[in-house]
Amino acid sequence: MSAANRNAQIIQGGMGVAVSNWRLARAVASEGQIGVISGTGIDSVLVRRLQDGDPEGAVRRAMAAFPFPDIVKEALKRYFLPEGRQPGTTYKRSPMPSATGNRIQQGLTILGSYVEVFLAKEGHSGQVGINLLTKVQLPNLAALYGSMLAGVDYVLMGAGIPREVPGALDRLAQHLPASFRLDITELPGVTRDGPAPTTDLIPHDFGSEGQPDLKRPAFLPIVASHSLASMLQKKANGSIEGFVVEGPTAGGHNAPPRGAKVFDDEGQPVYGERDIVDLEKMVDLGLPFWLAGAYGSPEALRRARAHGAAGVQVGTLFAYCEESGLEPSIKDKVLEQVIGGTVSVRTDPRASPTGFPFKVVSLPGSTSEEDVYRARKRVCDLGYLREVYRKDDGGIGYRCASEPIADYMAKGGEAAETAGRKCLCNALMVNIGLGQIQKDGSAEAPLLTSGDDLPAIERLIRPGRSWYSARDVLDYLLDTTPIAAPKGEVVGQGA
Ligand SMILES: Cc1cc2nc3c(=O)[nH]c(=O)nc-3n(C[C@H](O)[C@H](O)[C@H](O)COP(=O)(O)O)c2cc1C
Repeated sequence: MSAANRNAQIIQGGMGVAVSNWRLARAVASEGQIGVISGTGIDSVLVRRLQDGDPEGAVRRAMAAFPFPDIVKEALKRYFLPEGRQPGTTYKRSPMPSATGNRIQQGLTILGSYVEVFLAKEGHSGQVGINLLTKVQLPNLAALYGSMLAGVDYVLMGAGIPREVPGALDRLAQHLPASFRLDITELPGVTRDGPAPTTDLIPHDFGSEGQPDLKRPAFLPIVASHSLASMLQKKANGSIEGFVVEGPTAGGHNAPPRGAKVFDDEGQPVYGERDIVDLEKMVDLGLPFWLAGAYGSPEALRRARAHGAAGVQVGTLFAYCEESGLEPSIKDKVLEQVIGGTVSVRTDPRASPTGFPFKVVSLPGSTSEEDVYRARKRVCDLGYLREVYRKDDGGIGYRCASEPIADYMAKGGEAAETAGRKCLCNALMVNIGLGQIQKDGSAEAPLLTSGDDLPAIERLIRPGRSWYSARDVLDYLLDTTPIAAPKGEVVGQGA
């Protein structure tokens, strides 16, 4: 069992899809801080990299070390194109995740997260974590197992209540079958019989016999309240080694405000007193914790530590550094906006089909713009954010509020639920240069997320140099010039 390293002051936050890729996590981990890869949609990342010819050979180098050769053979046979894909052609997709565990999809997910962690850990002895969203239920067990096969040191999961994850880590470390109870949307009038359905992973199905036991990584749930942290510590089905406490200013998805829904003039959710995390209560839990959400400055790191945190988790500053997976032209556009003082981030309560508020950067050509959003033909072909619902016949179905409206309604969904919902799955693949060209020839558009503190990346841009590295971010954050922490300041403005 791994303990959490209380001496690591910085966790580079997990950023999906593959914004926090192996290159970024490796750069951070090799400097002695915690580098985190994103395991979300990792099978799609893998198969698209293979179809682009894996020009540097890194993916195939990691695949050659994977312990289950059948999956490697299958992945190469189905997806690898030595010359790369013809420009303008459609990527062949990984099968969509399903509760019944499609073997190919699970195999590709195990392999994809193995590759990402293997490469992030290559060539140094630093520590690497994997980030997953609890809400994305179906592929998570496979992503966890693949990362553990590569020796992942940490698992970080938010966007939901990851109560069953610690027990699954214990079992997967011994290659034993693991299950998560499925969170199912019950439609009005549909009766429910029998035990709650689960999604399962059976390592033996992939050839795990004879494999040595794996290291059980440290588990750090990402929480937005001390009460959730305390509940998880008491009621999770295994051990928790620490927490990330994330506030509503953080990039990505945010926890919704507590209490009545109130919106400001721009339609953004308003957070209040009840959303402030009591850091003394966090200290009382006795586990290390890291604060996230606009903590990307040396002053904020010192403040966090003065309040008993081990350090901070930072995403936005790392998202735009050289090593991150963001498509270079997108990085350049945003950096230009930052330098020009025009960059803006909005907390959109509708964009994500998960129903969680999602931070969106206003970016020309992205679905943050109404005309680009409206011009896109709705399609659901990746399916990571689909909710599982109970069909009239008692069986299980899948639906997403961003899918074609008629399809969603045919599955018992309300039209109002679809308004303003965006296809994050496809957009996030575009952000990292792996966007789909759909069969009708249309190219998917990006949708970028960042924290409210995005303008602060200007502090990393030096005269005459509009880029910076992960090392620059760490040097900046770990600056040791003493500045007194303001007395009585409230930190941990968590959701
Ligand atoms: C581009 C981007 C993508 C993110 N994606 C995820 C994600 O997939 N899972 C997650 O738990 N957090 C995600 N986050 C949140 C970060 O892990 C981190 O907690 C957050 O960025 C910290 O606050 P900051 O944005 O003010 O630095 C994302 C953040 C950014 C900027």
